[in-house]
Amino acid sequence: MTDPSPSIVYLNGNYLPLEEACVPVLDRGFIFGDGVYEVIPVYAGKPFRLAHHLQRLQNSMAAVRIDNPHSDAEWQQLIETVIERNDGGDQSIYLQVTRGVAARDHRFPGSTMPSVFIMSNLFTPVPAEQLQNGVSAITLDDIRWQYCHIKSIALLPNILLRQQAVEQGAAEAILIRAGDVTEGAASNVFIVSEGVIVTPPKDDCLLPGITRDLVVELATQHGLPYREAVIKKSDLQSASEIWVTSSTKEILPVTRIDGKTVGTGKPGPVWQHMHRLYQDYKQALRSGTTA
Ligand code: PDD
Repeated sequence: MTDPSPSIVYLNGNYLPLEEACVPVLDRGFIFGDGVYEVIPVYAGKPFRLAHHLQRLQNSMAAVRIDNPHSDAEWQQLIETVIERNDGGDQSIYLQVTRGVAARDHRFPGSTMPSVFIMSNLFTPVPAEQLQNGVSAITLDDIRWQYCHIKSIALLPNILLRQQAVEQGAAEAILIRAGDVTEGAASNVFIVSEGVIVTPPKDDCLLPGITRDLVVELATQHGLPYREAVIKKSDLQSASEIWVTSSTKEILPVTRIDGKTVGTGKPGPVWQHMHRLYQDYKQALRSGTTA
């Protein structure tokens, strides 16, 4: 058996094997977590909802005042090259931009070149067992800052929250701020209540998920009852379905919350419907009829 070919990454103008990619220790991403990122799924060699990811990247950079070092066409070229160099197929692209290298000082450096790093990870589909039975989640206090709409690489609170969930046997932490659901540690949250799909409106307390937006788009297109509204922590207990969504988990049904059964304890009919619509949408991308 031959060794798998090495993962090729892009770093500041060069394509090189992952093992050879190094950044200076004074990179502000390393010192301060001063940067933003995107995770973009790739199906059959094609980046999923690329224009949406590039728009959110631009929004994140503008919010933290990093000048975008590339046009959308250049980003597309860089991303497609990394995909090709990693043999196409299904992958997950991780892309990060930091404020660059400068002597450690909290204030912005006078002039630095942003550091750009793009790598390809294996796309690991959600195990069939989790789609069959759903996963557990717990609720935790949303201990994060007030700019959660920015896709910042500074993820220490998210890491601590996810780890707490994992240590309690749960797949995700659903976060509560002042009694309201914001999102998951690395996902957006939906519930189904009296047959209506509900997700919190977009604001500074949550990341505007690309998967979330697609679910909303599909619900609208296919006439599924849908509403953007505040979800109270208590609504989680009475919901007939709970889902968490992300680029890596797609739409994951939650069938236990804080140790209690959600609905029938199995992924519900609205999830089944939405999951099918989402898979069909992906299939259309694979066969080249959508972007
Ligand atoms: N995270 N909210 C948070 C806090 C997230 O970290 C993510 C995704 C989402 C869902 O966004 P999207 O649908 O665009 O993936 C919501 C990625 C996958 C990550 O950090 O790995």
